[in-house]
Amino acid sequence: MIKLKNFSSFFVANWKLNGDFKFIDQFLNELKMPEDPSRCIVICPMSIHLDYLRKKKNNFYVGAQNISQHKEGAYTGEISCNSLSELNIEFCIVGHSERRQIFSEINYDVNAKLLQLVEHDIIPIICIGETLEEKENGKTNEVLAKQLDECIPKTSNSENTIIAYEPVWAIGTGLTPSIQEIELTHEFIRNHKKKFNDFKILYGGSVKSSNSNEIVKLINVDGALIGGASLKIEEFTKIIQD
Ligand code: PGA
Repeated sequence: MIKLKNFSSFFVANWKLNGDFKFIDQFLNELKMPEDPSRCIVICPMSIHLDYLRKKKNNFYVGAQNISQHKEGAYTGEISCNSLSELNIEFCIVGHSERRQIFSEINYDVNAKLLQLVEHDIIPIICIGETLEEKENGKTNEVLAKQLDECIPKTSNSENTIIAYEPVWAIGTGLTPSIQEIELTHEFIRNHKKKFNDFKILYGGSVKSSNSNEIVKLINVDGALIGGASLKIEEFTKIIQD
């Protein structure tokens, strides 16, 4: 399994339901990897493209965007952890707010997915974050604490699990918390019940080339989860090179 400790920062591209073979070929042709080998680049295409991307991979890692919480059986349309292992996929995003809001995933499901992933030596990138309403009601830390407590299993540790803080209201909106808010929230996550001190904690939500450097260099931020800007090769290259 990849040694997370060997990397200084992580840049995870979440392509969501975007891209086709032509896009992937073009993207990889134009992608310039950072010279600094301590930057870990992970690209998460839709599942049907995982194997194609993995076969073409060069210095970057490949991640899935979701996984079934069930091992096997009568679950039409699902993708098993075992099948990800067979493809040598190294990472998997779990509990993204789009999965929670559109597909009604709850903390219980996210926890079951993490258990499967950790058992299969695939690194979960577990997304947590508050909605705008929760933020406005001063509930951010309460919501994050509950998500951390209910989603992250005892088998998770800083070597096999990554946390991503993604305020729901910042995803795809162009809005971000202030730099100070990001630092304070990451500090809160890191110190929660003294459990996540050594964990890699990424920030996600409207990261682009104009704000990534300032965010990623914060003491308690270990990288970024990038949606929209990861589909634009120039933007993404600037973010990972900066
Ligand atoms: P965004 O998405 O960068 O487009 O805001 C981030 C994410 O959904 O992971």
